[in-house]
Amino acid sequence: MPQPQDNARVIFLIILIFWLATTPDSGPGLIAGPSLIKSRLARQRHALGILNSTQWGDFSPRLTDDPPETEAKYLNLTGFREEDGYAWDDLQRFKDRCEEWSANAVGIPEVAEPVWQNATGVVRGWWQRINATTSRTHESYNLTEISPGVAWTGSSSDWRRNVTGTEGKIMMRIEDIEDAATEPEEIDRMVLEKAEIKAREVSATVSIDDIKGTGNSWEMRVHGVHWPHRGVMLLTTTSEKYAGIFGLPHLTTQPDFFQSTQALLNRTLDKALAKKEQHTFTDQIDPWSSNLDAPGEVWNPSPHCEYLLYVQVHPLDQDLLGVQPSLTGPENVAKAIHDIENELRFPQGTGHRHIPRLQMSAVIYSPDCAFFLETKGPPAFAPVDGKHMLGVKQEIFLYGVTTFLLGLALIIFGQLQLLKMQMRETSTPSTLGRVSFHTGCMMLLADGMLFTGSAAWSFSASTTLLPSLAVTCVSFLSMTVETFFLAEIYKVQEPEWRRQERERERERERQSRARLAHVVPPSSGGTPTRTRTPTPTSNPAMTTTNLPSSRQTPVNNPPRPPRSPPIIIPSDQDIDAEIAEVTNNNNNATLPAPATAANATPTSQNIRTQLSNIFGRLLLIGMCVLFLSLAAASWRPNLRATYFNILLFAYLSLWLPQIYRNVYRNCRRALSWHFVIGQSVLRLIPVAYFYILPNNFAFAETDWTAFIVLSGWLWIQIWVLVAQSILGPRFGVPKGLMPEAWEYHPVLREDNIEAGGLPIGLVSTPSSPTSPERVRTGEEGKDRKRTNIHVIDCAICREDLEVPVVKAGDDDPTAGGVAGVFARRMYMVTPCRHIFHSACLEGWMRFRLQCPICREELPPL
Ligand SMILES: *[C@@H]1O[C@H](CO)[C@@H](O)[C@H](O)[C@H]1NC(C)=O
Ligand SMILES: *[C@@H]1O[C@H](CO)[C@@H](O)[C@H](O)[C@H]1NC(C)=O
Ligand SMILES: *[C@@H]1O[C@H](CO)[C@@H](O)[C@H](O)[C@H]1NC(C)=O
Ligand SMILES: *[C@@H]1O[C@H](CO)[C@@H](O)[C@H](O)[C@H]1NC(C)=O
Ligand SMILES: *[C@@H]1O[C@H](CO)[C@@H](O)[C@H](O)[C@H]1NC(C)=O
Ligand SMILES: [Zn+2]
Ligand SMILES: [Zn+2]
Repeated sequence: MPQPQDNARVIFLIILIFWLATTPDSGPGLIAGPSLIKSRLARQRHALGILNSTQWGDFSPRLTDDPPETEAKYLNLTGFREEDGYAWDDLQRFKDRCEEWSANAVGIPEVAEPVWQNATGVVRGWWQRINATTSRTHESYNLTEISPGVAWTGSSSDWRRNVTGTEGKIMMRIEDIEDAATEPEEIDRMVLEKAEIKAREVSATVSIDDIKGTGNSWEMRVHGVHWPHRGVMLLTTTSEKYAGIFGLPHLTTQPDFFQSTQALLNRTLDKALAKKEQHTFTDQIDPWSSNLDAPGEVWNPSPHCEYLLYVQVHPLDQDLLGVQPSLTGPENVAKAIHDIENELRFPQGTGHRHIPRLQMSAVIYSPDCAFFLETKGPPAFAPVDGKHMLGVKQEIFLYGVTTFLLGLALIIFGQLQLLKMQMRETSTPSTLGRVSFHTGCMMLLADGMLFTGSAAWSFSASTTLLPSLAVTCVSFLSMTVETFFLAEIYKVQEPEWRRQERERERERERQSRARLAHVVPPSSGGTPTRTRTPTPTSNPAMTTTNLPSSRQTPVNNPPRPPRSPPIIIPSDQDIDAEIAEVTNNNNNATLPAPATAANATPTSQNIRTQLSNIFGRLLLIGMCVLFLSLAAASWRPNLRATYFNILLFAYLSLWLPQIYRNVYRNCRRALSWHFVIGQSVLRLIPVAYFYILPNNFAFAETDWTAFIVLSGWLWIQIWVLVAQSILGPRFGVPKGLMPEAWEYHPVLREDNIEAGGLPIGLVSTPSSPTSPERVRTGEEGKDRKRTNIHVIDCAICREDLEVPVVKAGDDDPTAGGVAGVFARRMYMVTPCRHIFHSACLEGWMRFRLQCPICREELPPL
């Protein structure tokens, strides 16, 4: 029979394989046939030849409002041919839009305002969709004709990246690298003189959320050129059915741009291709591919809508720039910008001024799916409706990530300190018995996942390596300490679980037997008579206290917890020394010798195996959740939000098991308030960062409602814990739902003698004249009249213990009123009907949960 764990392992393996098969992979990926790669490289070579040999104006497709007799020119490039049937009719409209938007942002080129020279950063905003003049469906294209020799999958259904909604969100991550090739200056004298059109290669990752339409989120990689002096970028996707980057110069708006692009791309594309041609086996990645997430695309590409992006970097807010009013000429502004960028990249510690934000606008054109996307912002929209795309430069972004990671490390460190404090407080078996194992497990799970996540992050992080290492270290420490704490809790609680298991089994047995008895005639299956073995008194010395052992076989026992073999609670402390300290009142009573592991007690070996099983299961759960969360990151936004809300709700339910345990064990409080409140707050802070901070680095949308629900839920749990501590742990829980808890301070009545309810040694019946107790009748006061004070020796301290016992016949339910309650707090009666001073037994129980006299197991306080 397969163990449940085996199943879990299989599931884990499946998830792992699934994960590996779907992760974006920058390595060689699945090996495609070399012929496939070679033919692709040959096509790209040919395209590069076309790029090199064409002139400005060689691509002038037929436009919508052209008279029919105008001659249209096309290029012999995939996607740029007339017979491919792409919607190039709107190309001029696209170019006009681009110029218009640049003029809106920076003014006409001659007096253009200076902008950031380095566009590396992250921006996001909203777009609106505008239909092109013509429309296209996937049936408009014959892919086998457009790209012969390529095996397309799913070409007969709607293409991916097809935007159908009227508006949605866009996010761009721009990589504007310094070492990227700039065009060689000797190419053209004319180009050299016009520094403002000098181009640089740039690439970006764009994600487009089609919120109002399909609800999908598309992510793609685009490549292109950047003219820093103008703040203009032109980027395009490239695929087997669209040679975007090779036709890019023809899609620029001006002849100047055409020339610089052609010169730049001619050189850089040639270099890249030459490198690829040398390594057709080992390096099969298409350097201009727009797919981030599909090694399988090498074999069987699926068709996507192609995009052409025109991005304009906006001028900076001059108030924030800090240029002197007398020096606001473009040169001075440009110099100020240059200073800021220098300071950001190579911090000298000069001044701490506010860094203006990065702002861009974009016009996006899909030549095959035939639509436009334009970012929302002035002048078409009021600034409240959108400011095109806003974001921060890379350095600011990384600064935010670093700050977050360091803060997270501090928070985990705080959690660790709280945990250590709690562990110092809960160091004894009886206190450990109160702490919920599952609450601990949830904390361990969360910290373990954090550890895994930050460790993985550290592997790939370069700029945030140190802070992420800090998080890794602290979460590892925290994880270790939590594991240790859980192991301690487990050792204490394991016998209890085993007992529950046994009880459940017995219950099941009884039920099945009852069923049997029901079926077969009663003569054949009589009710089993339960015989109770007397308490094992292995050490006769123990009973040498003043307790007559004859009283140990009561006629009718009150219900008590079922017997279990003595438990050994391993401890690295010198227990006996501590016990001696507790009971050092000139006490020469024979202390019970530590019980031996003669019977079926779990060995530490056993416990270790069980523990490693539990931690293995936790690891599995953690891995599954981690992989699921990573997968969820690419789900559609509302699904993703729901998933993370549910996950966090489950995580922040961490006090629920503790509340249950308090009820179950009838214990008022297990954890210190410092710990409960500290952990709650510290664990909520990172959640708050993503839920209510608008400029968080993950670009998570703020969601106050969800955050209030989450923190309210945590708040409620804390209040329940408070209520349990004040009003009693079973406050509001219907009686009978939970196993009866032992009442250590019962009202003692003389009538209970027959029922065997009085503690051993307190019974003063004529049949036991040798009873050592002395009975005194209460003298003064009305209350005292109703109680007898019995005096007995406490077996722990050997001092007198005065026990008020309600006289027979007195059935006052209040049993002595307030004074009675306090009197009852003075003594404690164990389930085995031994009686002690409260202080003595509580002190004892901090170390052992066994009766000091008969070693019967004691229910914890
Ligand atoms: C580009 O074309 C020119 C001639 O027009 C030629 O001299 C040059 O070698 C070509 N460059 C490449 C990389 O093909
Ligand atoms: C276009 O290029 C292909 C090679 O990719 C060539 O076979 C074909 O003849 C070219 N067409 C024209 C019109 O030049
Ligand atoms: C894109 O979506 C529109 C609207 O659903 C559809 O009519 C069109 O055929 C799709 N285009 C492609 C290329 O799949
Ligand atoms: C696509 O083109 C191929 C080759 O030119 C042709 O055999 C096929 O019938 C075409 N498919 C459609 C749907 O027109
Ligand atoms: C822009 O800044 C980033 C981050 O500091 C840097 O990596 C990149 O090389 C810079 N690019 C240019 C063109 O200076
Ligand atoms: Zn005592
Ligand atoms: Zn006892």
